[in-house]
Amino acid sequence: MASPQPRLLCVLLCLLSHLAAGHAIARDTITPGSPLAANETLVSGGDGNFAMGFFTPPGANSTYLGVWYNKVSLRTVVWVANREAPIAGTVEDNPGATLSVSAGGTLAVAAGNRTVVWSVQPAVRLASPTARILDNGNLVLANGVGGAVAWEGFDYPTDTLLPEMKLGIDYVKRKNRTLTSWKSPSDPSPGPVAMVMDTNGDPQVFIWNGGEKVWRSGPWDGFQFTGVPDTATYSGFTFSFINNAQEVTYSFQVHNASIISHLGVVSTGNYGLLQRSTWVEAARTWNLYWYAPKDQCDAVSPCGPNGVCDTNNLPVCSCLHGFTPKTPSAWALRDGRDGCVRSTPLDCRNGTDRFLTVRHAKVPDTERSVVDMSLTLDQCRLACLRNCSCTAYASANVSGGGRGAGAGNGCVMWTTGLTDLRVYPDFGQDLFVRLAAADLEESASKSRKARIIIAVGASVAALVFLLAVAGLLIWSRRKRLRRTAGSSKWSGSRSTGRRYEGSSHDDDLELPIFDLGTIAAATDGFSINNKLGEGGFGPVYKGKLEDGMEIAVKTLSKTSAQGLDEFKNEVLLIAKLQHRNLVRLLGCSISGQERMLVYEYMANKSLDYFLFEKANVVLDWQVRYRIIEGITRGLLYLHQDSRYRIIHRDLKAANVLLDKEMTPKISDFGMARIFGNEETEINTRKVVGTYGYMSPEYAMDGIFSVKSDVFSYGVLLLEIVSGRRNRGAYSCSNNQSLLGHAWSLWNEEKSIELADEKMEGSFNPDEVLKCVRVGLLCVQENPDDRPLMCQVLLMLASPDAASLPTPKQPGFAARRVLMETDTSSTKDCSVFDSATITMLEGR
Ligand SMILES: *[C@@H]1O[C@H](CO)[C@@H](O)[C@H](O)[C@H]1NC(C)=O
Ligand SMILES: *[C@@H]1O[C@H](CO)[C@@H](O)[C@H](O)[C@H]1NC(C)=O
Ligand SMILES: *[C@@H]1O[C@H](CO)[C@@H](O)[C@H](O)[C@H]1NC(C)=O
Ligand SMILES: *[C@@H]1O[C@H](CO)[C@@H](O)[C@H](O)[C@H]1NC(C)=O
Ligand SMILES: *[C@@H]1O[C@H](CO)[C@@H](O)[C@H](O)[C@H]1NC(C)=O
Ligand SMILES: *[C@@H]1O[C@H](CO)[C@@H](O)[C@H](O)[C@H]1NC(C)=O
Ligand SMILES: *[C@@H]1O[C@H](CO)[C@@H](O)[C@H](O)[C@H]1NC(C)=O
Ligand SMILES: *[C@@H]1O[C@H](CO)[C@@H](O)[C@H](O)[C@H]1NC(C)=O
Repeated sequence: MASPQPRLLCVLLCLLSHLAAGHAIARDTITPGSPLAANETLVSGGDGNFAMGFFTPPGANSTYLGVWYNKVSLRTVVWVANREAPIAGTVEDNPGATLSVSAGGTLAVAAGNRTVVWSVQPAVRLASPTARILDNGNLVLANGVGGAVAWEGFDYPTDTLLPEMKLGIDYVKRKNRTLTSWKSPSDPSPGPVAMVMDTNGDPQVFIWNGGEKVWRSGPWDGFQFTGVPDTATYSGFTFSFINNAQEVTYSFQVHNASIISHLGVVSTGNYGLLQRSTWVEAARTWNLYWYAPKDQCDAVSPCGPNGVCDTNNLPVCSCLHGFTPKTPSAWALRDGRDGCVRSTPLDCRNGTDRFLTVRHAKVPDTERSVVDMSLTLDQCRLACLRNCSCTAYASANVSGGGRGAGAGNGCVMWTTGLTDLRVYPDFGQDLFVRLAAADLEESASKSRKARIIIAVGASVAALVFLLAVAGLLIWSRRKRLRRTAGSSKWSGSRSTGRRYEGSSHDDDLELPIFDLGTIAAATDGFSINNKLGEGGFGPVYKGKLEDGMEIAVKTLSKTSAQGLDEFKNEVLLIAKLQHRNLVRLLGCSISGQERMLVYEYMANKSLDYFLFEKANVVLDWQVRYRIIEGITRGLLYLHQDSRYRIIHRDLKAANVLLDKEMTPKISDFGMARIFGNEETEINTRKVVGTYGYMSPEYAMDGIFSVKSDVFSYGVLLLEIVSGRRNRGAYSCSNNQSLLGHAWSLWNEEKSIELADEKMEGSFNPDEVLKCVRVGLLCVQENPDDRPLMCQVLLMLASPDAASLPTPKQPGFAARRVLMETDTSSTKDCSVFDSATITMLEGR
């Protein structure tokens, strides 16, 4: 007899078991014994963010295995397994469809009729295989729960990039992860739109639509893609780009786990779009956060090679400065695709090319660019100049904020036409485009036209005035010279102007300007503890920048009345002089009348300290010889190799600094330039050089030339060999002066005795003799007899010292001065003997 009670119980039990089963459905793992059925879904553990199961897209008559958001009420599928092999009919038509994992570890999707439509086979055999949906949406096939992952869905993205998913290449796993759009909302099979990491040159991401590139991200500049320049305004996201030997990948993370956001490619009509969407539950809708391509300039190369696209211009395309449209007729119809061609061809070999700075740029296509992460921006510029096929360069990593002064921020160089360049109103980075000098000057003159017109009138008047003043000065000085020569101090450089060539306005390098706060912080507020010494212009402090870089800060006395622009120009010019044997100027600081120069810090003080002061450390001959070679190269560079031909005017042991490896670095070059031209600076205290190193013609007549530097160099050479200070051309007795002593020894053929006794005879006599001879050649009285620095370098390299010219008597400025005056008295000797005080003159 059947009573209704048991039937009710049965129903209840059924219901309960159903509920229990329903509860059991919310598992996240399948194992060989328990496949996923068509009427079941897996839900990820943890927060239950994702669900996986069979689905039929709206409007379709086929079934797929996919992953969708579990918490988004509008079903949004983010991953599809069998997108290319659908199961015919809807889910309801296929109750027997399964996702199973075999005992051997094969993961397979089978249709209701048991036909396998999709499967993956892990490379290794798994002892206890499990397939599991993780809370980030990743389907992983692993050994046991939480064991080693043998296969994962994130390696085979569909059309959506989820947080933590990587787009791009994994060289170790040999995976190339791309996104491909669905054909249509009802068809997940691969559509025409793809997002692909292109690893050629500097890696970039492209959106393809069919066979056509429709958007380029540009390279990663350290914290964003140069073509997605508003990334900095995104809050709540972290973007990461990895580019190394193992992988080239892009990924992102969302800080707040309750924010649901993804990047996806879609095909709509004829368009292909990349879009970032975030879910707004209240509105039950996906909100479009960002998308690309967005505007005319986002298309790939709308303005062709060497064109610039700017949406704020009409028409949007223009040619880079120094270029003209290749096809003017097409250009006139606003078809810029042919691009532009150079007005003046580059003339690489004569080294006159310049760089035009294009600010706020989305840098050109880097597909055929060359990247060297080890270079600084300055080195990048030089590398580009050196390579005749280089057409432009830019920093590969702007995230250090580096403007070239800092450590390696990487270098991208282009060797082809610059395609797909666009500029933004504020975002973007600096691009440096190589131009023939003629084209850049034109730009400079154009932009300066207005200023020049105003300036010309003023300059003419000023020039007349200056000429008059200069004439007056020369005249009065000569008179005074005759009267007071030898008495005390006088300036020696009024009449001759500057001796450098080349223009100082280059648009290609920015002058690094440190603000006073940075400098003050670096030097502990100019703490006395950080004072390195007193230069000829003011105190010098040691400092340490925030990034750990050590610097030397040279304060310039306020009396430098040079104009700000002029000062900057000079500093910029000097900053451009870069050589292994020159102290590097990193920048300057300007705050009202306070001006400072920031140099790299040299650990080992200056050469004079080692030669004359530090008794306990003796420089051995090898070190001395290397120092001599270094100084020679540095001075040669200043005189000849640099574009600007700098005369040092104050070369001396104190101005040769030594780095950790005892590499000599000439410092204080260009100071004459920073302190401006005498003619314009009548009321300024002037640098004139240092007694003991001054050539006679410079000391006597104020004539300075490269040959007066050669004189100073000769003195320095003899000092290095002998370890003795030149007691100055003004010494009371020539025998006391190093030059006199060296000359006597030479005449007695005992030059070898000049070698520093502290070396205790351990030196190479041939090299010592060679150096003494070259030194004497450099200090000859007649400037014309002295060699040029390039000749000096050859002489030092020559194996046979005997083949060198025979030196004539050194120039003794003192003798001539003393001869011209009858008031010479010995009481002044001590004053002049303090030889290396840089002389300043107040007027
Ligand atoms: C799911 O389908 C299987 C067989 O295909 C069936 O036995 C089971 O009752 C179904 N479960 C639900 C909840 O429909
Ligand atoms: C089984 O289903 C697959 C996928 O839907 C289909 O391609 C195949 O023809 C079917 N095989 C049979 C024997 O019905
Ligand atoms: C859907 O596909 C199944 C299997 O191929 C077929 O039997 C059915 O007729 C189709 N339904 C429609 C509406 O096309
Ligand atoms: C990755 O795949 C894309 C699209 O299939 C292809 O264009 C690209 O060359 C591939 N990259 C590598 C490094 O294989
Ligand atoms: C995350 O976002 C939700 C929704 O916008 C918000 O309520 C919550 O406070 C956020 N949590 C954090 C830690 O910011
Ligand atoms: C070097 O460059 C200048 C400036 O562009 C040019 O006028 C000159 O013809 C070039 N000289 C040589 C020798 O090529
Ligand atoms: C110049 O650059 C090209 C392209 O990167 C390179 O192939 C060539 O070797 C470079 N030439 C020199 C001299 O470095
Ligand atoms: C870019 O520069 C920043 C700051 O200097 C540095 O932390 C980062 O590692 C650099 N990135 C690359 C790819 O070199």
